This record gives sequence, structure tokens and C-alpha cells, in this order.
Amino acid sequence: MMLGFIGTGGITEAIINGLFNHAGHEAPILVSRRNQGRSKRLAETFDLIEVVDDNQDIVDRTDWVVISVLPGQTLELLSTLRFRDDHGVISLPAGINLKSLSAHIDPASRVSRAIPMPPVAFGLGPTPVCPPDSDVEALFNGIGAAVAVEDETQFTALAASTAIMATFFAWIASNARWLEEQNVPAKEAAFYTTSVFQALASMAARVDAAELQRMSDDCLTPGGLNEQVLNAARKAGVIDTIQAEIGRVMERLQRAGKP
Ligand SMILES: NC(=O)c1ccc[n+]([C@@H]2O[C@H](COP(=O)([O-])OP(=O)(O)OC[C@H]3O[C@@H](n4cnc5c(N)ncnc54)[C@H](OP(=O)(O)O)[C@@H]3O)[C@@H](O)[C@H]2O)c1
Repeated sequence: MMLGFIGTGGITEAIINGLFNHAGHEAPILVSRRNQGRSKRLAETFDLIEVVDDNQDIVDRTDWVVISVLPGQTLELLSTLRFRDDHGVISLPAGINLKSLSAHIDPASRVSRAIPMPPVAFGLGPTPVCPPDSDVEALFNGIGAAVAVEDETQFTALAASTAIMATFFAWIASNARWLEEQNVPAKEAAFYTTSVFQALASMAARVDAAELQRMSDDCLTPGGLNEQVLNAARKAGVIDTIQAEIGRVMERLQRAGKP
């Protein structure tokens, strides 16, 4: 797979780090010059990176093109490019649906959307893919785990549910800060908090879907400490508020995908 990236932003850099450092990728990768700082850094780090000025040149010299510009820039960018019928396109921008993409990459017809997340830089985490495509899934399986779905509404739901990232990191940071306020040294506070979150997530990842709620229930000793915190969180609407907002994120993504 000869890969080219148009849009060398944060997520392109994460994918490329993952591919070279964790997936044993051994083929050249072309990246667009923009963003200058990131493309320069990638070329300095990896011998197989070539920085290319002209986006069409990237298309012409690759067989898979990853579109990684911002959503509002995507269709305008695509309308300046000419694809071959044997090209594959992987589109990362949120809210740009398959119908619009297909209309802009003709005569190419092999297109998948994907939502890689920053942990792919470390070969970790799921990447939603729609529709399923064996080559696209193999790419993201190398830097985590592809989760391929046929239905674009399911894909949008996966995208929406990922909008918890900033909340998750803020929660971890708040927990570590609180430990520091209790005079736990910063390094131990950060290590302890992140280790707890990591261990709990790893444990949850090992159980069947039907068992997820039981993991919480099993922690609830009547009158115990976990029950105290969960009851307070529920009373304050913490979990319901986040879930309701995820629903509104989904609506927003669906509105964005309408012509
Ligand atoms: N970050 C994530 O975790 C994540 C996850 C999944 C999907 N996505 C999606 O992936 C896309 C990229 O996200 P990002 O976080 O990497 O954004 P970003 O850091 O803003 O990167 C976008 C890049 O596109 C470049 N660009 C803009 N117009 C261009 C053009 N005509 N030709 C070549 N390059 C151009 C920009 O260059 P300049 O800096 O020079 O303007 C910038 O480097 C977004 O659509 C986002 O929705 C992001």
C-alpha cells in the first residue's frame, strides 16, 4: 500500500508515528507540506517520509490517499484533485458523509471513513471504519484495532461517543490534582491516578458486553465508599448529562453531514 496524506496535522502525525514505531511499516509515505512544522518533524524523524508540495502529486504517486484536513476544508480540497479509478481514499474529517465523498472522488469508488484517535501513535485504541474494507482495516489494526461497521449511522454514533476524550483527561487531571492537594507528591499522584484508570479500563475490556454494568454493580457494597460516590454522581446528573450531550453531538454530526 503506497500511502499519501493530505493534511499533516495532529492526527496524521499520530498515525505515522504509530505506523513506523508500532506497525513495522516499511514503505515510503508521502505527506503534504502543510503543516510545515509537523511535516518537517516527520521527515527528520523517519527516512521513509517524503514531504510533497503539490497535493495532486501526492494523489498521482500513491494508491491510497488519506484526507486529513479540517471538515470545512474537505470538499473544496477534493474538488481540486483528480483521482484514478483504482485509488482508495480514507477520509478522516468528521461529518463528511460517504455520499458527498463519493461524488467528489469520481472515478475512484473505494472510499472509507475512519476515526483514528491520538493513542494510535502508540499502537493503541480502536479506529471506527465505514464501510468495512480489508486494506483499511489492516492499516488500522496495525496501530490498534479497527472497528468496522456497514452502517454510517452506527459510525456516527461511534464518532459521537468518542467526544468524551477531553472530559476523560480532565477527570484524570482533576483526580491527580486533588491527590497533590492532599500532599501526595505530583509524580506519585499522576502515576497512581493514571494507573487506576488504566487498570480499570483494561479489566473492563476483558468482560463480555452484557457484563459491563455488573462491573459497576459489583463495586457497590451497601453503605460503602463507591456507593457514596456513585449516588452523588447520579444525583448531580453527571453520567446522564454526559450521555445526553453525546446524543446532541450525534445530532450535530448528522446535521453537518446533510447537504
Ligand atoms: N485529532 C483527532 O483526534 C482526530 C481524530 C479523528 C479524525 N480527525 C479529523 O481529522 C482531520 C484532521 O484533524 P487534525 O486534528 O489533524 O487537524 P489539524 O491539526 O488542524 O490538521 C489539519 C491540517 O490540514 C492542513 N491543510 C489545510 N488545508 C490544506 C490543503 N489544502 N492542503 C494540504 N494541507 C492542508 C493544515 O495545514 P496548516 O496548518 O498549514 O493550515 C493542517 O496541518 C479533521 O477533519 C478531524 O475532524 C481528527
